[in-house]
Amino acid sequence: MPSSFSSPVLYRAVFSTVFKRMDPEAAHHAVVAGLQIAAAVGADRLLERLTRPQESLRTEALGRSWPSPFGLAAGFDKGGVAVLPLAALGFGHIEVGTVTAHAQPGNAAPRLFRLVEDQALINRMGFNNDGASAVRSRLERTRRRIDRLRASGRHAPVVGVNIGKTKVTPLDEATEDYLISTRALAPVADYLVVNVSSPNTPGLRQLQDIEALRPLLEAVRRQADESTSEHVPLLVKIAPDLADDDVDAVADLVTELGLDGIIATNTTISRKGLLTSAEEVESKGAGGLSGPVLAGRSKEILVRLRERLPQSAAIISVGGVVSAEDVAERLDLGADLVQGYSAFIYQGPFWVRRINAGLVRIRKGTRLRRGTRRG
Ligand SMILES: Cc1cc2nc3c(=O)[nH]c(=O)nc-3n(C[C@H](O)[C@H](O)[C@H](O)COP(=O)(O)O)c2cc1C
Repeated sequence: MPSSFSSPVLYRAVFSTVFKRMDPEAAHHAVVAGLQIAAAVGADRLLERLTRPQESLRTEALGRSWPSPFGLAAGFDKGGVAVLPLAALGFGHIEVGTVTAHAQPGNAAPRLFRLVEDQALINRMGFNNDGASAVRSRLERTRRRIDRLRASGRHAPVVGVNIGKTKVTPLDEATEDYLISTRALAPVADYLVVNVSSPNTPGLRQLQDIEALRPLLEAVRRQADESTSEHVPLLVKIAPDLADDDVDAVADLVTELGLDGIIATNTTISRKGLLTSAEEVESKGAGGLSGPVLAGRSKEILVRLRERLPQSAAIISVGGVVSAEDVAERLDLGADLVQGYSAFIYQGPFWVRRINAGLVRIRKGTRLRRGTRRG
């Protein structure tokens, strides 16, 4: 592939002349629409040929086979409208959602902000999504197409579904809300994620308290088993703002309930460690912060979880991943899979391709070094 085509320099030029001037949410919709159009005219096939992860990146985790250990974190495709076009960029998996039982508009705009100096984002989207039943229908169609892709040997992503609580549902009725989503979405998910860590739904993060989390996870596990004939892996997604003891408590609960793993982490409510002026940061208002500033805490939690969890429990590491080196480091620290979101906005559509190619290079280098040492 010509290097200019996937060049980060080219995207940076497009970013600073076009996207940076656009409202971030409008830019997001433009990118999704562009990907959908590319798919509609068949350009996704060409893309796929250029970006398909090398076979050596194939990863076994959670009882599934993943084309690459690297995937797209929840929040980019909340409604499952662009799963295949996104996968055509080289993601090994796409996590759809957060989906709630009932459709909802989310918070008032503006609700997504860039902190360019930090390559970070602040969002208070508030789970804007079409609701479980609409997303289920969409994913049924997507799954049929994925089955056909797999049968013809083409790149076929793993599709996770991340579920959360509808805003108007009171916290003490949260379980039933999650169960509506589980019934609808477990049958179309390769793995299911209970999101209790978004800062943008009032009270949601209280569900991370063990007394609230235990009955919720038990009920979702039971419902997922009743709704599907095959075991659907169930993971819980946690916040980077949890204290270490609380991280341990969630790990112990996951072990006790025999759940499949943990996704760490969601966005943070902290504003520490940013280069952007405090004044500018404050002007954006409330919301979850994501990007490189999250990497330190995300890695600390990963290491802590890996020490605490049995090997049978998977960890998906997310938060501040930018480069192939970052992905390799997370894998070395014990992650089974890795995700990213914010860097996708800053690095552009060929970011994933660069990550996959970089991973192949890093692994070759490691093997060569090992071989030299042995020799
Ligand atoms: C605009 C935006 C929307 C997000 N929406 C969700 C969401 O709906 N559900 C969720 O679990 N995480 C959501 N996230 C969090 C990401 O999945 C991820 O955990 C977080 O951004 C850290 O990764 P990053 O530093 O690579 O962006 C969102 C993040 C962003 C930036």
